[in-house]
Amino acid sequence: MEALEEEEAALLSQLRGAVSECGQGHLLDFWPELEGPSQRRALAEALRGMLLLESGQALRDHCRRAMEAHRSQGEGAPLEPRRMEPLPGQFLGSASRSPPEELRAWQQEGLRQISQNKVGVLLLAGGQGTRLGVPYPKGMYDVGLPSCKTLYQIQAERIRRVEQLAGERFQTQCTVPWYIMTSEFTLGPTERFFQEHGYFHLDKTNVVMFEQRMLPVVGFDGKVILEEKGKVAMAPDGNGGLYRALMDHKILEDMERRGLQYIHVYCVDNILVKMADPVFVGFCISKGADCGAKVVEKAYPTEPVGVVCCVDGVYQVVEYSEIPLELAQRRNPDGRLTYSAGNICNHFFTVDFLRAVGEKFEPQLKPHLAIKKVPFVDKEGNLVKPLKPNGIKLEKFVFDVFQFSKNFVAFEVQREEEFSPLKNADTAEKDTPTTARRALLSQHYRWALKAGAVFVDSRGERIPEKQSFREDEEPPAVCEISPLVSYFGEGLEKYLKSKELQSPFLLDEIKAETLQQA
Ligand code: UD1
Repeated sequence: MEALEEEEAALLSQLRGAVSECGQGHLLDFWPELEGPSQRRALAEALRGMLLLESGQALRDHCRRAMEAHRSQGEGAPLEPRRMEPLPGQFLGSASRSPPEELRAWQQEGLRQISQNKVGVLLLAGGQGTRLGVPYPKGMYDVGLPSCKTLYQIQAERIRRVEQLAGERFQTQCTVPWYIMTSEFTLGPTERFFQEHGYFHLDKTNVVMFEQRMLPVVGFDGKVILEEKGKVAMAPDGNGGLYRALMDHKILEDMERRGLQYIHVYCVDNILVKMADPVFVGFCISKGADCGAKVVEKAYPTEPVGVVCCVDGVYQVVEYSEIPLELAQRRNPDGRLTYSAGNICNHFFTVDFLRAVGEKFEPQLKPHLAIKKVPFVDKEGNLVKPLKPNGIKLEKFVFDVFQFSKNFVAFEVQREEEFSPLKNADTAEKDTPTTARRALLSQHYRWALKAGAVFVDSRGERIPEKQSFREDEEPPAVCEISPLVSYFGEGLEKYLKSKELQSPFLLDEIKAETLQQA
């Protein structure tokens, strides 16, 4: 017993010295009140991790940088209008304006590379999804489709289908490995979810999960926030934490061992995401790009999407939280927004480029500031839920590496085909479960009509067709098509041509087989 107490006293004195040296002595204020050795051990481990991860000096720097960034916020003009320019036309490919033969050639090239096992996908899934407000990772969300599929399942099935398409076209057996970056908040539940669902019939060895780092959240006084008496407030280091995480977990080595050359990086919440999109991948490869971004035309000036543009002659995304309103609202003589290339968080990187970033450029990435409401314990030890923002998070952004690209390209796609993100709960107007579900069902309805289907209601009466409808309008009939049957509307005629389908209609593999035989 005595030995244990002595050991603890030594540990405390060692820790106190180290944290005090960084100006963070308050983190141990409630040590004597912690309940038992397990709570004390947990705090000690967290503090040791923080000190080890960042080393004393770096932790001090982190806190200073956070405080300075917060203080200088709003001072001067961070982004003068003259420094920012729209993306030059020659760097922009387009899914709607390019001739069909060019699109077919890009698709063919993308499928060829996939068939040779050179393409992987990488999901950024370390975010906390605070706006959606569910206590589990966003990928586990079911937006209410007839099939009840979650975002993860939809993505897994699109991978399986694109592998099949590429394999059939080039007579190979191929794999698109799925890398999933998680954080302390999402790793456990994501792993369990995949296990419970048998990895959605993907080979487990081709699904690689790894964790990004966490950083302490800092108060406006430069002190790390204590969230509970024995718990430091920590947050993931932003989706640009990807580059450190790739190095931390030797993910680039895994990619190289598999012979991958191209990676499609995407964010978790876009229900229309085209996994390893052969057209986008083929376009980037055909242009010799080392780095690329998919964009959609921005819908309105304050839409929460970053804009891909040039700043001081360098490609960059200016995030929605950082663009001055005047620039966001600027329009060309034809009435279109000047900064219209909306980032949909779909990026293309060569593995060589990722290695160069990991080994050379990563330390040059500048963290961005996010001010949040963070619960904390006050000096008396009371738990306080602040009404106003009180905490500074520093985050790196995944797109900040565009500046290091030797050949950057952007590819514009149509919003209704490729972008409907799930950001908010249904109490909001936009980017909700309802809008995501509607976007997918509208797309599938259009595919079915194009393939020659006719919809009828429960009394067998024909539902009048509508080729186009507003974004906020439900499609005339409910139709969901499994990604295992069609990746992007291809190959549906053989099941649907001249068929009468009763709404709601769900086309899965079994239904497809019966329809083909009918
Ligand atoms: C992001 C883009 C924005 C784009 C928009 C489109 C960034 C920094 N911003 O904004 O330019 O217009 O998507 O929908 O990319 N994530 C992590 N780790 C983190 C933080 C986030 O993996 O530490 C992941 C999230 O899980 C998510 C993705 O990064 O998959 C994007 O994060 P989110 O917070 O949703 O970004 P937005 O602010 O919507």
